[in-house]
Formats: sequence, C-alpha cells, structure tokens
Amino acid sequence: MSGKLRLGVLASGGGTNLQAIIDRIQDGSLNAEIVLVLSNKPTAGALQRGRRAGIPVCCIEQQDYPDRPACDRAMVAVLREARVELVILAGFMRLLSAQFLDAFPHRILNIHPALLPAFPGLNAQQQALQHGARLSGCTVHFVDSGVDTGPIVLQAAVPVLENDSVETLSQRILRQEHRIYPEAIRLFAEGRLRILDRRVTIVRPAENPEEVLINPPVA
Ligand code: GRF
Repeated sequence: MSGKLRLGVLASGGGTNLQAIIDRIQDGSLNAEIVLVLSNKPTAGALQRGRRAGIPVCCIEQQDYPDRPACDRAMVAVLREARVELVILAGFMRLLSAQFLDAFPHRILNIHPALLPAFPGLNAQQQALQHGARLSGCTVHFVDSGVDTGPIVLQAAVPVLENDSVETLSQRILRQEHRIYPEAIRLFAEGRLRILDRRVTIVRPAENPEEVLINPPVA
C-alpha cells in the first residue's frame, strides 16, 4: 500500500495504547499516521498524549447532543473531515451506534483485555480473576454490532497468577496490548487482513520476495 494509512484513535482514558501506537510510528515500525485523537472525556490522558505528540485532538461529549445517534454523527463528521481510513478504539468507553459502524465498514478495530470470546464487556480482568481462569490476555478485533463479538485479528495470552489483583493482571495484559495493537494495525496497513465469515486470515506480504522464498506457497 502506498502512502501512510490515516488513523483516527478514539480513547476515553489514560491512552497507553495510543502511546504505544505513537511510539511504533515514531520508531518507523508502523507505516501509518494518526490524523486525529478523539475523546468523549475532556480530561482523558489520551488527549494530552495526542497534543504532546503534535496530533490534532478533539473532544465530543454526549451531553452536548440530544441523543447518541446525533453524537455519533458529529464523531463521523470529524473523522471524515480528517480523512480517517481506519478507526482505532483504544479504551473508548462508549458503545457506537449502527450509523457509526456503517460509516466505516470493516474499518474499526478494538482492543479488549481478555481472550475473547471469554469475558466480554466491562471489567474483563476482574471477570477473569473471579472466574478463576488460569490464562487471560488481550484480543484485537474488528468491531461489529455486538459487544466485543467482531472477527478476531490477533490475541496474546498471559498467565493469571495466584496472588494477582485486578491491577497486577491488568498491567501484565497491558504490556501485551501495547505489542499486538500496533502489530494488528501494521497488518491492516499492509493490506494483509482478509475476513471470511467471521474468520480473519493473515496473508503474506504482497511485495516481499524473501518471505515468499522462506515460506513457499503449497502448489
Ligand atoms: C485497555 O485495557 C483496553 O484493553 C481497554 O481499555 C484499556 C485502555 O487503556 N479497552 P489505555 O487508555 O490505552 O491505557
């Protein structure tokens, strides 16, 4: 793919995933550009991280709109204005309406702090602890109309330790989030993701003869 993939990052919280993406862009391992950081919380740390990196930021609060579709229309408008090609949900704590999803078909990614389909929804780390899971982790997935139900792109597992608290487990999972989210975006940017039904296939890079040699296709 020529040119840089234009990312719009939606975040409500501290923004460590946003930061990981900024860092991978800055160190040259992710050929993409964050053209907008959008939050629904004016105090979100993600907005500060965006500003610090010189990225345009914007806050759209639900309370300023009569209903959710109206608020979502405003978000779609700013993302379109910024010519966003891929929407990245990075701790965006608000469900998106069908109108929003329809505006970016197969072009919205989310990261969830559990191995989906286990423990969807809120407080995934606490759910894993309470359930007594031995493994948890994180999942990057395309967003569909369900809660954390969309096609899975990448996952990483971590152990759940006997003495874990929500905090210690969250930190262990976050380290993996920061690794696989930029990686999933890179695969998308390179045009290497295919979705069939709900299964995502990662195809070989189109223009990398070395990889074809190492990994020849089965005739
Ligand atoms: C992460 O745990 C992510 O999986 C979840 O929200 C959290 C966001 O953390 N969706 P941060 O704001 O990126 O630090």
